[in-house]
Order: sequence, then C-alpha cells, then structure tokens
Amino acid sequence: MKNGIIKKLVAVAAVATIAISMVGCGSGNTEKKEDTTAKTTATAIEAIKSKGKLVVGTSADYAPYEFHTQVDGKDKIVGFDIEIAKQFAKDLGVELEVKDMAFDGLLVALQADKVDMIFAGMTPTDERKQNADFSDIYFIATHRFMLRSGEEAGIAKIEDLKGKKIGVQKGSIQEGIAKGNFEADKIKSLDKVPDLVLDLKNNKIDAVLVESTVADLTVQKNTGIAASSLEVKDPDGGCAIAMKKGSNELTTEINKTLKKLKDENKVQQFFVEANKLALAE
Ligand code: ARG
Repeated sequence: MKNGIIKKLVAVAAVATIAISMVGCGSGNTEKKEDTTAKTTATAIEAIKSKGKLVVGTSADYAPYEFHTQVDGKDKIVGFDIEIAKQFAKDLGVELEVKDMAFDGLLVALQADKVDMIFAGMTPTDERKQNADFSDIYFIATHRFMLRSGEEAGIAKIEDLKGKKIGVQKGSIQEGIAKGNFEADKIKSLDKVPDLVLDLKNNKIDAVLVESTVADLTVQKNTGIAASSLEVKDPDGGCAIAMKKGSNELTTEINKTLKKLKDENKVQQFFVEANKLALAE
C-alpha cells in the first residue's frame, strides 16, 4: 500500500518534471522563433545600427522644413524636419548624416540605397506609396500661391490665375496640382524653391505654389512678394517620412519617435524654432 503511494508520488513528480521541462522547451522555442522573425524584418534598422549612422536625404530649400543657414560661419542644414531626424538618430543611438539633393531625386536615391530615409516634408501620395513606405503624418499641410505684392489681392479661386505663369518644384505634388489646373506651357518646374522665388521677383513667372507654411515664411523673408489667401487642399494633406518598401521595423520605430514628439508638443516647438531661425538670417 505504502509502496503504491510512493510509486504514484514519483509518477506525479515525473509528470511534473516533464511538464516543467516542456514549458522551458516551449519558451525556448518561441524565443528562437521571435529571433528569426526579428532578423528578417529588422534589416533596415540593423543596417543603420551597424554602420552607426542614419543617412537622411532632403531637399534643403524649404524653410521652415529644411534649409541652409550659417552657424558660426559654417553652412548647416537646419529646420524642423532635421530636428525630428536628429531625435530619431538619437533614439536609435547612431549619428545623423544629412544629404542635400534635388527634391525630384530623393525617391531615386532611396531606391539606390544612397539614403536610409527621406525627411523632406514629403506628402505620402498613393503613387509614391507604390515605391516607398511612409511613417504616420506628422504635419498637416495645405498650399498657397506666392505672387508679387499687390497681385495676390484678386486671387480668390484657382481660375483667377488662368493665363499666368505658375512656378512649382520639380517632382512635387504642387507640380501635379498645377498640371491638373493649368496648361503645360504655363507651368515652370525648377529643382529648388529659392530659384522660383527669384524668378517671381524678376517677372519670369507670376506665381509659385508651395506648402502654406513655406509661403507664409518666404513672404516674410522677402520684400515685394505676398501669399494668396486662397488655400489649395490635396487629398493626402500632410507630410511623412519615406523609407524603402518593406521597412516594417523602421516604420514602427519612427512612428514611436513621432508619437513621443507629438505627445510632448515637440513637433510644434521645432516648427516655431525653425521659423525663428529662418527669420533671424
Ligand atoms: N509636400 C510636397 C511634396 O511632397 C513638397 C515637398 C517639398 N519639399 C522640399 N523639401 N522641397 O511633393
């Protein structure tokens, strides 16, 4: 009888041991599985971490988003996009390198692995989404025309600009808006926005379409030009950060940084600081 109980106890203990070792085994297996999954999806992030730097592409002609300024006599690229990029590099624990190029060449540079991400006030359109992944929208945007002072007064609707020569940045959604509303020979596309502003001042074009925040700042910085009260909206309405297609892990991480910055009202703070910096030039 006694023997029987002991045997049973031993049996129970044995079952318990097996169960425990199975649990141990089970969790070991899961960990292994998670590891492999992480490896296949984290390549973009791992590549950035292993080179120790985040290479960001931008078109630094778009104050307050990104622009050139002199800091202690040296040329530097600054702006609220750049502040967000700095924070993200910090969160990843890597250095930040900013490459300036034509806006039109940014997505090509991304495809060719010349840059890891694009911080350029880029609107996540459906067309662009076919070739790139985008973060959450971090800044809502509309568009406005800049015109020579006095000429903005009569512009209440887009048709009021018919017959005028419209300047836009090459490859931008503003170029798309212009193409949808004006004849091709009435549109001039250039790589850099300051060149469009020069053309406007020199009567080579009559209006420049840019994001409203850019128009508002540019007309404050330049004499002789003014922004239309007419605002143009687009269905994609905002800016996001572009990454190579399939960058799931990187997208999750950048969205975390963006959320943190938004919750702390930092994006707005960066925006205000970038405007101040641009006006102080
Ligand atoms: N949001 C517009 C677009 O995505 C224009 C952005 C221009 N950005 C710049 N850094 N120049 O097409």
